[in-house]
Amino acid sequence: MRANCWLLFVLAGIVAGIAVTEAGENKGAEIIVLRGGRSGRVTFPHATHQKVLKDCKLCHHLFPQKQGAIKDLKKQGKLKKKAVMRNCMRCHRKTAKTGRKSGPVRCKTCHRK
Ligand code: HEC
Ligand code: HEC
Ligand code: HEC
Repeated sequence: MRANCWLLFVLAGIVAGIAVTEAGENKGAEIIVLRGGRSGRVTFPHATHQKVLKDCKLCHHLFPQKQGAIKDLKKQGKLKKKAVMRNCMRCHRKTAKTGRKSGPVRCKTCHRK
């Protein structure tokens, strides 16, 4: 009897957990302003990318889904300057070549003082 109660309790917990992650996945801000050093800030449309690209790992393989993650990793010496930027540009170039709608590759289209 006791063992059965525990099993039910655990199962209920698992089901509740899945429901929470499915309904409440934290997608972060729709628009994020990133530090771009001397070249000026970069306004990044996060939600647009999530919708078009689907796969979070196309960016978050470089840094976790946490506000300020890029700045923190750079400070700890775990992420090179411009490493994230190169990832942005690489994809924009590649996408443009296929003729699909893509993003900017020129400095001043991304960076604003
Ligand atoms: C094209 C790149 C890119 C993709 C794809 C992407 N993100 Fe992000 N995400 C970022 C950047 C850049 C930040 C800001 C990190 C920082 O502040 O240093 C960020 C931050 C976040 C944060 C932290 C909160 C915030 O608003 O800063 C969460 C949560 C997050 N992303 C969730 C997701 C999820 C979930 C997906 C997939 C559905 C996803 N992201 C796809 C680039 C991306
Ligand atoms: C697709 C948008 C985009 C384009 C185009 C772009 N950048 Fe960036 N840049 C970023 C982002 C995002 C960051 C912050 C993340 C990083 O450092 O990787 C950044 C960071 C930087 C930094 C600061 C690095 C640091 O940590 O101090 C400099 C300097 C810079 N960019 C210069 C340039 C120059 C010069 C060009 C043109 C050749 C350029 N960027 C083109 C998005 C872009
Ligand atoms: C894996 C591919 C990929 C990566 C990585 C990526 N982008 Fe993009 N980006 C796109 C595509 C595709 C579009 C065109 C979106 C559309 O259809 O509206 C785009 C569009 C944009 C636009 C223009 C949005 C508009 O409203 O016209 C900006 C600005 C931009 N990206 C900035 C960035 C920055 C900054 C990063 C890095 C932090 C980044 N992107 C990383 C694929 C990518």
